[in-house]
Amino acid sequence: MTVTIVGSQLGDEGKGALVDRYGGEADVVVRYQGGDNAGHTVVEDGEEYALSLVPSGAIRGKVGVLGNGCVVNPRTLFSELDDLRERGLEPDVRVARRAHVVFPYHRRLDGIEEEAKAESDQEIGTTGRGIGPTYEDKAARRGIRVADLLDPEVLREKLEYTVERTTAVIENVYELDAGEECDVDALHEEYADYGRRFREEGMTVACGPFLAERRAAGDNVVFEGAQGTCIDIDHGNYPYVTSSNPTAGGATVGTGLGPTVVGDGEVVGVVKAYLSRVGSGPMPTELDSDGAGHTTGDEPGQATGNETDQPTGDDTDAAIAAEIRDRGGEFGTVTGRPRRIGWLDLPILRHAARVNGFTGIAVNHLDVLAGLDKLAVGHAYELDGERVETLPATTETWARCEPILKEFDPWPDVDWDAVAAEGYDALPESARVYLAYLESELDTEVYTVGVGPDREQTIERVDPWNRV
Ligand code: IMP
Repeated sequence: MTVTIVGSQLGDEGKGALVDRYGGEADVVVRYQGGDNAGHTVVEDGEEYALSLVPSGAIRGKVGVLGNGCVVNPRTLFSELDDLRERGLEPDVRVARRAHVVFPYHRRLDGIEEEAKAESDQEIGTTGRGIGPTYEDKAARRGIRVADLLDPEVLREKLEYTVERTTAVIENVYELDAGEECDVDALHEEYADYGRRFREEGMTVACGPFLAERRAAGDNVVFEGAQGTCIDIDHGNYPYVTSSNPTAGGATVGTGLGPTVVGDGEVVGVVKAYLSRVGSGPMPTELDSDGAGHTTGDEPGQATGNETDQPTGDDTDAAIAAEIRDRGGEFGTVTGRPRRIGWLDLPILRHAARVNGFTGIAVNHLDVLAGLDKLAVGHAYELDGERVETLPATTETWARCEPILKEFDPWPDVDWDAVAAEGYDALPESARVYLAYLESELDTEVYTVGVGPDREQTIERVDPWNRV
């Protein structure tokens, strides 16, 4: 069977830990989109491995596949593989022949375009890994695929056309020197070498047939989504998105297996119990000190809580945000920059539940909210006097949405290790009320609850591999 794992919010939901957990029963772990813009740390036997391209399952002896929907930077891939081998591992990684290749000129273009956009405050804040320009070339039908690296003549022919065009763009549109990133001879030498290595190590596969065979042999497959629903190019916060489809539909297009395969399996949405955001962009439930508007709802409070018209954007909110940030370690892993913090946003989650068709959700960081003076969720939005339950299509409209909050009883700080050992029923009652509210609003089940960062601090309520 298959389990697809998708981020429900804006990234940083803790997908890595879940892929790791479900990966234990998997034979094959497949990434279906994105490239080395993703990043996660896997801890195995006390050793820490930071990966951006190699699927995490490869550390644990599973077959890791980069599907046709991925964009593959061979420099990153081989550097990660070499590093793992130096550390005594034997990762088994296969790469789809249909996957597109990230070249140095893609990274260059990524930087150039971000700088150009920054002049009018329109930069996306990309990871600078060349992801967008590679997908652009793919859509424009001038991309170079992994299979092309295997044939030096084909590679040469394709490079000559694409690099000439890229050079013209850099020199004539941006009036910059094209530089070494556009040196066809050097690119050909380096990338034909990667092709040789792919061939010698038997790493490339026809992804769809390969996975179909493994499934026919009874293998369990995890589809590992990178990034999150709100940065999906179709269903995210356009244009502040990545250039691929992290949502569950990407798992079929990006692997060569039909929608019925993904749909026959489980689709698990990873949800952080509050919201965090890196950088700019709308965040209606943000907890800050400037009194961001909170409007009165018109529904009676459920058993769980009441909507409120109490302005809450004050020092208390700033203090709560600081507490959540500290406890949740909400600081960028590279820059150390504090992440923005907000209440859980139900319109985002309703959107994610529909787009991805969740069969279940994994709620992380529940312990981080323990012991707060107050607790709320953004139940809906008010937009121009209308009540809105899900995400609007444009960023500009989303930015005008005011949250309609619903308050909940905060739960106490408890011995989370003991709770994790005992199971779901040992959670404080108010925490179970919060989770039941999510299940009812999203019409799905809570499969796991994270009450701490360690593997044993996740309560498993439903095991998607062994559903009854
Ligand atoms: P790109 O994917 O590098 O083109 O970046 C586009 C947007 O997606 C930027 O806002 C990035 O910060 C965001 N992004 C890309 N990869 C990740 C990720 O793995 N986690 C969270 N945000 C990401």
